[in-house]
Amino acid sequence: MRNELLRPLAALLLLTGCGGGSGTTSTPTPTSTATATPTPTPTPTPTPTPTPTPTQTFPYTPIAALTASVGSSLPLGKCINMGNQLEAPNEGDWGRKILDSDFPFIKSGGFDTVRIPIRFSGHAGSTSPYTIDSTFMTRVQHVVSTANNAGLNVIIDMHAYSEMSTDPAGQLDRFVAMWQQIGAAFASYPSNVWFELLNEPTGSLTNSNLLDVYEPALAAIRTTNPSRLVIMGGGTTSNISSLATLKMPNDPYVVPTFHYYDPMEFTHQGATWITPTPPLGTTFGSDTDYANLSADLALVTDYYTRTGRVPFVGEYGAYEIIDTDQRATYYGAVSHAFASIGIQSCAWSYVNTFQLRGSSDWITQITDLITTTTTK
Ligand code: GLC
Repeated sequence: MRNELLRPLAALLLLTGCGGGSGTTSTPTPTSTATATPTPTPTPTPTPTPTPTPTQTFPYTPIAALTASVGSSLPLGKCINMGNQLEAPNEGDWGRKILDSDFPFIKSGGFDTVRIPIRFSGHAGSTSPYTIDSTFMTRVQHVVSTANNAGLNVIIDMHAYSEMSTDPAGQLDRFVAMWQQIGAAFASYPSNVWFELLNEPTGSLTNSNLLDVYEPALAAIRTTNPSRLVIMGGGTTSNISSLATLKMPNDPYVVPTFHYYDPMEFTHQGATWITPTPPLGTTFGSDTDYANLSADLALVTDYYTRTGRVPFVGEYGAYEIIDTDQRATYYGAVSHAFASIGIQSCAWSYVNTFQLRGSSDWITQITDLITTTTTK
C-alpha cells in the first residue's frame, strides 16, 4: 500500500519545518522605587497575571486509564513515535538520525514514553540463523538505553518488515529468530522497555493467521523475558476495525494495540507513499468528523467490554504538509477522544514527515493540545 521509493521525497519536506518555540516570556515593566523618604516595609511586587495561551477545547474530557482484567495494562502516559529514523533502510536515509539529546528533550517536553520503529529485518541475514548485524543491534541498544536513562518508557517496535505480510509462512522462522535475538539482547533491561511484535500486519497476514506467527515469536521471547510486556496489533494495518476479531495469545503480559489515521483523506492528503495519494484540501473538524470519531470510540469500548483487555493507540497523526491549525485540531481531538474513554495514545511522529518538533523546538501549537488519560 505504501510506495517506499517515494519516501525520501517526503522526508525532504521536513527541511521546511517550522520551529514552534514557545519559550518567550513577557518582560515585567519595571516599577519605580525612587521615593524621597525611605519606606521601612517594601511594597510587595504584584504577581503578574499570566496571559493564558489561547487554546482549543474539545468535546471530550480525559478520564483515568482503563485497567485490564485480561492481559496487562500498559502505563503509556504521553507518548511519541520516533518515526522514520531507525525505520528507514539505514538510519538517516529519511531524515536526521536519532541524537542522544533527543531523549532528555522529549522527557522535558512532558512525554513519558517513546515508541521506536526499527527495521530489524533490513539488518538481519536472509538464511538461518538470521543473525542481526551486531553493529546495528549495538546502535539499537544504545538508543534504547539513552531513552530509558532519560526517564522514558521505551517500545521496541519491529517495523517495516513487509515480507511478513506477503509471505508469513515463509518468513516465520526468520521472524522468530529475530525475536529470539532481540529478547536475548534486552533481557537485562528494565521492565519499562516493551516489545511490539510487528507493525501493521496486512496483506496475507490477517486476524485469521496472526496467532500462527505471534505465538512462536512470543514463546521465543519468553525464554529470556518471562514477564516483559509484549504488544501486538491486528491485521488490515492494525486499524481500529481490526480489534473486532483480534485474537491474543494466552499470556498474562500481552497488550493489544491499534492505529488511528481516520479519515485517511484528511491525515494522508498529499502523502506520496499512499496509493492513490489523497488530494490536498480536505479539512477536519466538522460535526460529521466528530460524530465519526465518537462512533469509533464505541468500537474500542465494545472491545474492552467483551475481552477485558485494554488496547492503546500506537500511532495517530496528520501529515506535516497540512496547515498547522488543522493538524493541531486533529491531534487534540483524537488524543482527547481516546482519553475520554480511558485509552492512551502515541502520536506519530517526532521530527520526520508528521513532525511535531521543528528544527529547534516543539511545534507547541500542536503538542500543547496532545493529551492523555488522567492516570499514566
Ligand atoms: C505507518 C508506516 C509509517 C508511516 C505511517 C504514516 O506506521 O509504517 O512508515 O509513516 O504509517 O503513514
